[in-house]
Amino acid sequence: MISLVIKLCILTTLLFIITKACDFKVVIVSSTDKDYFVQIKAPNGTASELFHFKKGGQKESLQVTGENCGLNMTTANTYKVNPDGTRGQRLHQTKAMLDGMGLVRYSLIADGQIMIDSRAGVMCAFAICGGRG
Ligand SMILES: *[C@@H]1O[C@H](CO)[C@@H](O)[C@H](O)[C@H]1NC(C)=O
Ligand SMILES: *[C@@H]1O[C@H](CO)[C@@H](O)[C@H](O)[C@H]1NC(C)=O
Repeated sequence: MISLVIKLCILTTLLFIITKACDFKVVIVSSTDKDYFVQIKAPNGTASELFHFKKGGQKESLQVTGENCGLNMTTANTYKVNPDGTRGQRLHQTKAMLDGMGLVRYSLIADGQIMIDSRAGVMCAFAICGGRG
């Protein structure tokens, strides 16, 4: 009997999570002076602009909104910058299941790696998810 109640609670919680809207800010901060492009793909498949990072401390952001964001991955891709300023080879990709309302901060480091380093109000799964801010 008790286990049935617990199962119902879990089901209700899951339904609540699965049917809610998401609205979170993605902030990308570079900690390298090297040149890289970064592009974020939202859970609905829309690609962000290609952000051009040129120096340490540079910060760019975008807003991700939608329904059921946790059903798809949010993807961060980094690319080399060609000498002529066009997008070069892909260097790194980080995928995470993100949902909620708040903020996720990615850190771009030397070698073009990108990772989530902190977040607030946003659930994260299937990735190295950083600390909760
Ligand atoms: C998940 O991605 C697929 C394919 O890109 C898309 O058709 C679908 O609408 C997305 N689902 C959500 C909840 O954004
Ligand atoms: C897809 O996601 C982007 C970023 O969150 C959002 O700006 C855009 O409105 C969404 N498009 C649709 C069709 O929901």
